[in-house]
Amino acid sequence: MNRRLLVPTADAMRDLGVRIGGGLRAGDLLVLTGPLGAGKTVLSAGIGEGLGVRGPVSSPTFVLARTHPSLVGGAPLVHVDAYRLSSPAELDDLDLDFEGSAVVVEWGAGLVDGIADSVLEVRIERRPDDVREVELRGSGPRWASIDL
Ligand SMILES: Nc1ncnc2c1ncn2[C@@H]1O[C@H](COP(=O)(O)OP(=O)(O)O)[C@@H](O)[C@H]1O
Ligand SMILES: [Mg+2]
Repeated sequence: MNRRLLVPTADAMRDLGVRIGGGLRAGDLLVLTGPLGAGKTVLSAGIGEGLGVRGPVSSPTFVLARTHPSLVGGAPLVHVDAYRLSSPAELDDLDLDFEGSAVVVEWGAGLVDGIADSVLEVRIERRPDDVREVELRGSGPRWASIDL
């Protein structure tokens, strides 16, 4: 999968997350990149809603990762803010349950290589008019035939 979308508002970003989250399952790994304020957490909150997990999914201030259990008998969401992590070893130290949950890593570029054989990368860019350009790039077998 390789798609580019224009996302005009925060609500639309959340809706995109709901759409993505609705199709996720345990073992899925997503990496969100984009500058501060791009909308990574808004998208993550939508993903949590689509997955049906307990919220709120927000920017964790004191923890690097938070697990949101499912309210519908599905996969939990592990939401990671890797802003303060500087190496894959530090991410590894968190002992996250990659097999048993859907894992979304903000600022995760370069930190998750080799963790899973499939990764969905979401790159968000801010335009001056507040519209976000979003690129969805799936790699590995999991995303090969999925179109969001
Ligand atoms: N098109 C848009 N998509 C996403 N967020 C938007 C958009 N336009 C404005 N915003 C605002 O930008 C901010 C994004 O914040 P956040 O999701 O916390 O960013 P990040 O996690 O990438 O640092 C929110 O306050 C949101 O309301
Ligand atoms: Mg954030």
